[in-house]
Amino acid sequence: MPKRILIAAAIFAASLAGTGDAKATETEKVFKFYCAQCHGVGGKGDGPNVTEDFKVSPRNFTKAKEMNKLTDADLKNVILDGGPAVDKSPLMPPWGKTLTGEQVDGLIKHLRKLCNCKGKQG
Ligand code: HEC
Repeated sequence: MPKRILIAAAIFAASLAGTGDAKATETEKVFKFYCAQCHGVGGKGDGPNVTEDFKVSPRNFTKAKEMNKLTDADLKNVILDGGPAVDKSPLMPPWGKTLTGEQVDGLIKHLRKLCNCKGKQG
């Protein structure tokens, strides 16, 4: 588990606190800071942090077929509580303590843009 990344994320969290306008740009920033290191800037699961000791590949957000298996509520769960909360790898960290609800909602929209899909309904 790359602790470095978590620490970096915490520092970014601190530096981001207090901003919070221009939502789309804000979401892109949030995604780049917190998610892109593993999921890649374009969301393809090819971020620079993904090395050989990664036993599981981060989800490729551009694969509509996979992303359509998940509801928005599923996305929210895994973002807030991390991989193990949904029987996935702990390599996916929990973000509930780092991100605001608004940031998480923004990220879900961003992921839906990347997959160009609506997700499983229900
Ligand atoms: C330290 C690396 C890392 C970071 C940073 C990270 N993820 Fe992940 N993420 C993963 C891995 C690995 C998986 C795949 C887990 C699995 O399939 O068992 C994953 C899976 C996911 C999934 C799919 C879960 C599923 O049920 O298929 C979503 C959604 C997700 N991440 C969103 C995010 C968001 C949003 C962020 C930024 C707030 C983020 N991730 C940051 C590593 C990371």
